[in-house]
Formats: sequence, C-alpha cells, structure tokens
Amino acid sequence: MAADADGDSEGCYINPYQPEMMRIVRRFNLTEDVKFFQIRPHDSMRALAMRYNPGQFMMVSSLGVGEAPFSISSTPSRPGLLEFCIRNVGQVTGSLFKLKENDAVGVRGPYGNGFPLDKLKDRDLIIVVGGLGAAPLRSLLLYALDNRDDFGEIYFLYGAKRPHEMLFRKEFMDMMQRDDLKTLLTVDSDDTGRWPGRTGFVTELMKELKGVDPRNAYAAICGPPIMYKFVIQELLRLKIPKHQILMTLERRMKCGIGKCGHCVVKHIYTCIDGPVFTYWDVINMKELIY
Ligand SMILES: Cc1cc2nc3c(=O)[nH]c(=O)nc-3n(C[C@H](O)[C@H](O)[C@H](O)COP(=O)(O)OP(=O)(O)OC[C@H]3O[C@@H](n4cnc5c(N)ncnc54)[C@H](O)[C@@H]3O)c2cc1C
Ligand code: FES
Repeated sequence: MAADADGDSEGCYINPYQPEMMRIVRRFNLTEDVKFFQIRPHDSMRALAMRYNPGQFMMVSSLGVGEAPFSISSTPSRPGLLEFCIRNVGQVTGSLFKLKENDAVGVRGPYGNGFPLDKLKDRDLIIVVGGLGAAPLRSLLLYALDNRDDFGEIYFLYGAKRPHEMLFRKEFMDMMQRDDLKTLLTVDSDDTGRWPGRTGFVTELMKELKGVDPRNAYAAICGPPIMYKFVIQELLRLKIPKHQILMTLERRMKCGIGKCGHCVVKHIYTCIDGPVFTYWDVINMKELIY
C-alpha cells in the first residue's frame, strides 16, 4: 500500500510511514462520541484491490495533526471500502471528527496479524463483544456471515452500557431475525424503557452457550479491559481450550510496524505479534489483559 519516499513506484526504497490519501465517502454518528467513517482510495481499481483480514488495523491520519491506529470494521468480503468506528478521545480523533464527506485522510496499513481465518474454518464461532469492541469484531462477524458455509454455529453476544451506546444497534437487531446466527444483545441498564433486548452483563448471555462443543469452538472477544477477566472465566467454565480463545488487545502505538517499541510488553510487540492473541499466548502477561 505504501509508495516509496520519492513517490516512484520503480524505486527501491519504500517509506513505510508514507500514508496513502483516501477520501471520506460517508460518516455519521453511531453514538454520542463514536463516529462511523467509510473511506476509499480515489482510484476505484485501487479500492477494489485493497486486501486485509478481519482483526487488522490501520493508521489513519488527519492531515497536519497526526495519526492513530484504528481497527478495520468492514469485511474484506465486501471490497472497495474501508470502515472504521472512531471514539473522540483526544487530538487525532477530535480532528478526524471535524472532517466532512469528501475530505481527505491519510491511511497506512493494514497492520497486525488479524484473526486466524484458516483455524476458524469449519469451527463454531462465539463472538463476545463489549462497547467499542464491536469495531474489530463486526469485521469478523460480517466475514463469517458472507462465508457462512465455512463455519459451524455462530453466536454473537454483545453488551453495551445503555441502548444508545450500542454500536450498529439497528444492524445487529436485524441480525436477530436470521436463523443461521444466534444474536444476543444486552445492555447494563435500559434508560429508554423501550429496549427490546436483554438487560444485564454480557457474561449473563453466556449461559446460552451451554450446548456448545468446546473442542470444535473458537471464541473471539473484544471489549473494555474489565470484561476480559469475566468472559474468559465463563469460556473456561465451558471448557473452551485456552488456545481457542482469541482476544484483540490495545496498547499505545506509534509506528504500527515493530520499529518504535511503544507497544512492547515484555517480549511482545502488540502491533506485529497482535493485536489478536490467544489466551494461551498472554496468560502470564496480566498487564496485557487486566
Ligand atoms: C490496535 C488498535 C486498534 C484500535 N482501534 C480503535 C477503534 O477501532 N476505534 C477507536 O476509537 N479507537 C481505537 N483504538 C484506540 C485509538 O488508537 C486511540 O483512541 C487514539 O490513538 C487516540 O488518539 P488521540 O490523539 O485522539 O488521543 P490522545 O490525545 O493521544 O489521547 C487522549 C486520551 O486517551 C488516552 N489514550 C489514547 N490512546 C489510548 C490507548 N490506545 N489506550 C489507552 N488510552 C489511550 C490518552 O492517555 C489520553 O488520556 C485502537 C488502538 C489500537 C492500538
Ligand atoms: S507501535 Fe511501534 S513497535 Fe509497535
């Protein structure tokens, strides 16, 4: 994806920090502080040629302000567009929030390992999401639904604090009608009085996974740090093997390509060894998961 430093595709020096310019096609609020961005390269052939895996991330830059890593929320099975969910927490995200449709952003990547799709093939898939964790796991969910014959049973469990904080609420509620997917949505508390889903923590929903054959199931989880501990406890209770529990983890990153050391925990570079890890990989690295 990166061009070389001189912009000469024939040259031998490739500058890995050089972003590719893309255009915002659509953007709208998913919640009060999270915006959805759909972006694509100017050239449509280039847009269709983009390759990535669910679980990978990209460095997205607001010109003249800076760049930050964001999980890709779209699925490679629907080529031509990249989608991101971005929470406004600071300088870069605040600046991205001010951009409008047709404005330019810089993008480099995709980076990171992504989910091991080859290992997930023909397995049951349990996706457990909390809050903004929907960003990377929507990519995996849509990919699995677009390649439905490649998976066994699919369970999608998503917990948000309140109904208006649930990302893609309408899209996920529509999924409840599908009979090839078990979608369970919950909120910690319903402040609307009109929430049709459940209330309680996402771990409550995991009681519905009792019939799952643990040898044939992989779980993918992403959410706030506090969620991991309790969700992992439940998955272990269901006897899902540790190497079949996948989690995507966040660390502060600068380069995204294993050069700067910002994301290192012990011997692990979260930008290139992750952001997807098995529980087995990180079981002794409490600073990564709790
Ligand atoms: C692999 C990966 C995927 C990510 N995916 C998403 C995504 O899909 N959507 C999304 O909204 N965000 C995502 N993030 C987090 C996002 O990169 C940060 O929110 C962003 O860097 C903030 O930049 P800023 O300049 O706006 O904030 P800053 O001005 O740098 O910081 C604002 C505040 O947020 C805190 N902060 C910033 N980044 C982090 C972080 N990574 N962890 C903990 N605290 C932090 C700072 O300490 C500060 O308090 C991801 C991060 C990683 C590493
Ligand atoms: S972000 Fe630079 S080494 Fe990982």
